[in-house]
Amino acid sequence: MTDDPKLPRPPRRPRYAGTHPRRFGEKYKELQGDPDAVARVLERGQTPAGRHRSIMLDEILAFLAPEPGAVLLDCTLGYGGHTEALAERVAPGGRVIALDLDRTEMARTLARLDGLPVKGHATNFAGAAKVLELEGASGVDGLLADLGVSSMQLDRPERGFSLKQNGPLDMRMDQTRGKSAAEWLAGRDAASLADALLTLGDEPDAEDVALAITQAFESPSPPRTTRDLVRVVLRAKGLDPKTKQTSAFQAHPAARTFQAIRMAVNRETDNLDALLRVLPALMLPAGRVALLTFHSGEETRVRAALEKGLDSGVWATATLTGAKATLAEIAQNPRSRSARLFTASRAAV
Ligand SMILES: C[S@@+](CC[C@H](N)C(=O)[O-])C[C@H]1O[C@@H](n2cnc3c(N)ncnc32)[C@H](O)[C@@H]1O
Repeated sequence: MTDDPKLPRPPRRPRYAGTHPRRFGEKYKELQGDPDAVARVLERGQTPAGRHRSIMLDEILAFLAPEPGAVLLDCTLGYGGHTEALAERVAPGGRVIALDLDRTEMARTLARLDGLPVKGHATNFAGAAKVLELEGASGVDGLLADLGVSSMQLDRPERGFSLKQNGPLDMRMDQTRGKSAAEWLAGRDAASLADALLTLGDEPDAEDVALAITQAFESPSPPRTTRDLVRVVLRAKGLDPKTKQTSAFQAHPAARTFQAIRMAVNRETDNLDALLRVLPALMLPAGRVALLTFHSGEETRVRAALEKGLDSGVWATATLTGAKATLAEIAQNPRSRSARLFTASRAAV
């Protein structure tokens, strides 16, 4: 608590009616910038709402070894934790070019990083070569791609990624274009949906879940919200409709379905393939690459691309087995348990 009467008190949370806050903004004290609330959440090994804890930060800094004057590319700015640490190390004289599909979160992050040498571009990392051209950079000394979704995106119910908070079935990282999850699901046939659930989510009950979802979308009242979709998945699995995630270390029964739909809606594998194709051309001689994956499909793609580059000689070194986060980091941040860090360094000439 802030006991010193001379210290400014954090602003009061908006009052809510009833015994349980329902709206996201009312629910989490840490969202109001209360430093004590943030500290308590971190102590519990959880991520404060509206924030993202950067994964394998020390390992990434050690490998990229950014130096003053270097030009770096962070393909996935997110909350900016990695970018911030990199930008502090390339100053003076260097810069971090930072990309993200999510212009809403990018605006918040760039405001937070004001004063550091960071240049943001709200764009897809599949087009990273074009961004470097616009920035007048012939290549970069270091590149990071921390794939997937951020905690802020998962936490904000209005974005439609959340299993826990009810929101519209959206799931787009870039809400200015493309089909929402509801639009993507409507009219999809059960076989193609089952294939997506299996390949993108490793969903063991892919066929049953896909059939239930397609039938729900053909019904007179199709699912409109994340909670509606969770109910359909639980019913397909024969589970109680009130089933909840019991611990941060045990995934919710609908988590794999949500992951697969999110990956399909955002064309995540296509974007990763596009980045991997241009990766060597983005790097200056001896430039270093760090890629954080969160899913077996991503790992397979990254490993294959790095192996090909090792064989052809574009990479001088590359790790083909992704490194895991330490047990201490996993205990602090359960979202790091599925992370695998792949690294490569461009040949010197
Ligand atoms: C795991 S978060 C990055 C977190 C960040 N490293 C940090 O320390 O806060 C991944 C971010 O990548 C973004 N993203 C995912 N796919 C993208 C793509 N194809 N192009 C650009 N950004 C993308 C997401 O919107 C999200 O903000």
